[in-house]
Amino acid sequence: MTEILIDTSASVMTITLNRVDKKNSLTGAMYAAMADALAQAEADATVHVVVFQGHETIFSAGNDIGDFLNVPPAGQDSPVFRFLRGISSFPKPLVAAVCGPAVGIGTTLLFHCDLVYAGDNVQFSLPFVNLGLCPEAASSYLAPQLMGYGRAAEALLLGEPFKAEAALEMGLISRIVPPAEAAALAQRQAQKLAAKPMSSLIETKRLMKKSQAGVVAERMVEEGASFARMLREPAAREAFTAFMEKRKPDFSKI
Ligand code: COA
Repeated sequence: MTEILIDTSASVMTITLNRVDKKNSLTGAMYAAMADALAQAEADATVHVVVFQGHETIFSAGNDIGDFLNVPPAGQDSPVFRFLRGISSFPKPLVAAVCGPAVGIGTTLLFHCDLVYAGDNVQFSLPFVNLGLCPEAASSYLAPQLMGYGRAAEALLLGEPFKAEAALEMGLISRIVPPAEAAALAQRQAQKLAAKPMSSLIETKRLMKKSQAGVVAERMVEEGASFARMLREPAAREAFTAFMEKRKPDFSKI
């Protein structure tokens, strides 16, 4: 599949979102390819680190809205939930390079990465409410933890975007660089990690995540059930149809 490129060299698997003409919005097939790649990376002892990257101008516009409308994920075994379970429980280090818009799951997947290097053009947003939806990827738990409730409410209830400096201050990202440097920096840091003792990396990550692992897994199931239900409800259908028709949604009759 060319919309997700997977390259493994020198113990680092790099997963590149490569659907730039559609702003790297993610289809079921793309989630399935990423979930399979993560499972393979977990099982393969020669892979020590996984890097996620998009393009210098766009990380991801989130879920493909046409997919939301036409083939909404039905249950916990659908590709998006398989991908989210894979990334949230991935035992080895995850590094990301993120530039440009990072919308919806384009932001929430980063909550599960260990090192995130952002271009100064990055813009994070969690517009679930604006789409008649609710948070996913345990972001209803992780965003308030990371940002504090007040800023999480602006991001999740109002759907207000935030930029690199705010993300750095709250610890979502590790460093801000010019967009042209983000991918190379992520690779350098991944190589540094890959040279370290694997068992120490895995045990250290497990210990750091231990206090939240149970609640994250539980919250993802609860969010997933609500999300799947809300995808089929009138507010979301209106939001998706409006996006496809390039107009503003009208929630006044819902
Ligand atoms: N699903 C499907 N198609 C998408 C998409 C998405 N999430 N995001 C962008 N696209 C498509 C557009 O429909 C457009 O297709 P077209 O050229 O056939 O008309 C193309 O990608 C370019 O998008 P455009 O909106 O013109 O780019 P932009 O640079 O003006 O804006 C974004 C970029 C990311 C800000 C904007 O595309 C956007 O807000 N996308 C929707 C984000 C969203 O709500 N995602 C769901 C999160 S849960």
